[in-house]
Amino acid sequence: MEQATTPPRSLAVHRLRAGMVGMGMIFDETYRPFFETARQRGLYDPRFGLCDIELAAVASKTGSRAAAYKAAAGGRIADFRSFAEPDSTAQLLAAGVDFVCVATPDDRHYESSRAVLDAGKHLLLEKPSVLSLAELDALDQLARERQVLAKVVYHKLFDPDHKKLRTFVHDGLLKHVNNGYCSLLEPKQISGAQFAEWIVGRNPGTYVAVHYIKLIDFTFGGRLTSVTCSGQRGLVGPADGSTWDSTQLRLGYRYDDGREAAFDIHTSWVTPDNFPGYVEQEVQFRFDNGVWNSHSRKRGVECTIEGHTPFTVKTTMNNHYNGRFVEPTGERAQRGYGIEVLEQFAREAAYVEFGGAAVDRPRRLDEMRGFAYNDLGAERQVVAAVQGMEAILAAHAAGRPNCVVHVNHPAGGLVLLEPGSAQPVVLYGPSV
Ligand SMILES: NC(=O)c1ccc[n+]([C@@H]2O[C@H](COP(=O)([O-])OP(=O)(O)OC[C@H]3O[C@@H](n4cnc5c(N)ncnc54)[C@H](O)[C@@H]3O)[C@@H](O)[C@H]2O)c1
Repeated sequence: MEQATTPPRSLAVHRLRAGMVGMGMIFDETYRPFFETARQRGLYDPRFGLCDIELAAVASKTGSRAAAYKAAAGGRIADFRSFAEPDSTAQLLAAGVDFVCVATPDDRHYESSRAVLDAGKHLLLEKPSVLSLAELDALDQLARERQVLAKVVYHKLFDPDHKKLRTFVHDGLLKHVNNGYCSLLEPKQISGAQFAEWIVGRNPGTYVAVHYIKLIDFTFGGRLTSVTCSGQRGLVGPADGSTWDSTQLRLGYRYDDGREAAFDIHTSWVTPDNFPGYVEQEVQFRFDNGVWNSHSRKRGVECTIEGHTPFTVKTTMNNHYNGRFVEPTGERAQRGYGIEVLEQFAREAAYVEFGGAAVDRPRRLDEMRGFAYNDLGAERQVVAAVQGMEAILAAHAAGRPNCVVHVNHPAGGLVLLEPGSAQPVVLYGPSV
């Protein structure tokens, strides 16, 4: 009879103290349930035993949402310390933490992340990681020097539908992607209320297209070759300003066999609020031998409740991303892939710190850095696409529409070409 092998187990109880920079919408949606459940249950893995996760300190602009949360949460969360601007991240780091999650507005990720890594703490950064390759290089370098993890939250890679797509591609069942589209439409409430404080000069492409840029990059591989982008204005800001209502991004890719692909990613944050779902998300990819269609709102549920749908309860709901449930055991839970992705990061950090002898920590760190789905070192093409899109939209707002960004052009790694100008604008010199 075959002998069953039992993995080595440890009953040691370890602890990781977490810091949270940014206490806004995404904190409430995913980090809050993650920290509350982790406080109750800890994390268990045969490789490191039991690890307690404690939210030890938070940083935000004013501290008001942190105070409200603490009062409402009672014993569901540790008695965390709260720091407000100015210098909230530095104060949080001085309070004693082992890893830090950064969920501030997109264009404020870099400063906090730099401080976190510089202090030698593991970093989990909300998407989009950073807005330029120069910033990405600096963070990646710092993470290597300080010997810590630097990871980005890409929950869509944990969506079972996207995992199935990638499995078919990985296993060669779906052959060579030729083209495709992705669309993600957010309600007006996002641009009009939720993000009102920081929306000036921003666009929905960087904020949400990045989910699909990563999905495409991670699922199909290949080399990014070009970026183009158009957009519309006039609802969130003036029709000739720098704040965008909607964007249409196109990415070109080339594969090792010389074949090419193109992907269109359409995003908006001005969809009417009485929309039947939370967000409208749809993808279609066309392969040599097949077509993949998926729609986040059409996974099978459609529900009407008088006086509730589509406002306080959505007509079509995504119960896979993040749902509140009464479990069959009677327990109330909030779970889904949006929360699972955070737990996975905590497991990676716990494995690095406690998954064996201290002398083997560098090997464990390398092993965890090897995950291309979330490591900052595997972000180059994603950040190149974001930086290219931002530069194209900035040129458009300055009266120079229809620019194209070339990747690994003779003039540089990321190069903006303006119609009618013979002079390339080098956005990033080294190869991408
Ligand atoms: N994974 C996802 O699907 C998802 C969804 C929504 C948002 N996000 C990302 O999360 C990040 C935050 O988005 P949000 O929706 O929570 O925004 P939000 O506007 O609701 O909250 C932003 C938070 O950052 C804090 N903040 C602002 N400036 C700060 C500073 N200088 N130092 C410390 N704290 C500061 C604010 O006080 C607030 O608590 C963005 O990068 C966004 O792209 C991801």
